[in-house]
Amino acid sequence: MKPIDSLIKTTDVSYVYLNNQNPKKAVDKISLSIKQGEYIAMLGRNGSGKSTFARLLNALLIPTEGKVLVLTKEATNDEDLWFIRKRIGMIFQNPDNQIIGTTVEEDIAFGPENLGVKTIEIENRVTQALIDVGILDLRERAPHMLSGGQKQKVGIAAVLAMHPMCIIMDESTSMLDPLGREELLKVVRELNKKEKITIINITHHMEEATLADRVIIINDGKIVEDGTPAEVFTNVNKITQIGLDVPQVTLLLHKLKQTGHLEKVDAITVEQAYERIVQILE
Ligand SMILES: Nc1ncnc2c1ncn2[C@@H]1O[C@H](COP(=O)(O)OP(=O)(O)OP(=O)(O)O)[C@@H](O)[C@H]1O
Ligand SMILES: [Mg+2]
Repeated sequence: MKPIDSLIKTTDVSYVYLNNQNPKKAVDKISLSIKQGEYIAMLGRNGSGKSTFARLLNALLIPTEGKVLVLTKEATNDEDLWFIRKRIGMIFQNPDNQIIGTTVEEDIAFGPENLGVKTIEIENRVTQALIDVGILDLRERAPHMLSGGQKQKVGIAAVLAMHPMCIIMDESTSMLDPLGREELLKVVRELNKKEKITIINITHHMEEATLADRVIIINDGKIVEDGTPAEVFTNVNKITQIGLDVPQVTLLLHKLKQTGHLEKVDAITVEQAYERIVQILE
């Protein structure tokens, strides 16, 4: 089947928080199209509007202005709202906040139960989600006894049991140790490759962002960069002005360019940087 060109499409979407004395425009006229099967990393400083934007995509928030379309639906009534929430799943930063059940199985069954899925079908979905995430052995365990990385895998399985088209991770690796982070990213990568599930990973880790097909940078509620990791991160001056890091090797090449040893900066991985440096040395 041909991938769906526009899974999510936002048109001039804005969101203003009105609940404090100074209304805050957290998302400012973002227009963006996301295809089925894309693996996107979303970056931005603290308070730049990433979480607000993510919540607009799965109809946890409704835009103050503009439009969010998921396939052909906008969250204008309850039915369409559920259509969207079912397809765009989200996992958050703190794995403890996602635990609902007393066993892993219960936790994963919760979503499809809420969607009104039949009991026998729920059983199948739970088993399949546990297999897909590689945690079938945790089925009967108490979620609060698991490690952070295991809890986040349960979170992914719980979303998978709703048969989503897209999973948004809002800094879901930030409380994990390096191994837990690596394992979670591997699971997500496989779901993206095998099941063509669209991934939007909101992260502060540059090395996670370099794994994505597309990097989007949000600053002050607006998109300021959107391209491949190489296109985005080799813009060293712009990225550092925003207050974000670029990969260390890119920074090294940038210094080599500033000192006249290189003409352009075009590497974001160690392998690419190695090739460029060997060329200089020869
Ligand atoms: N519930 C809220 N009420 C009022 N203002 C809010 C609320 N949530 C967020 N904001 C404000 O909206 C802006 C964007 O916040 P948001 O949480 O979307 O940013 P973020 O990029 O996810 O930040 P972080 O990296 O810290 O998670 C910030 O100025 C924040 O203070
Ligand atoms: Mg956030």
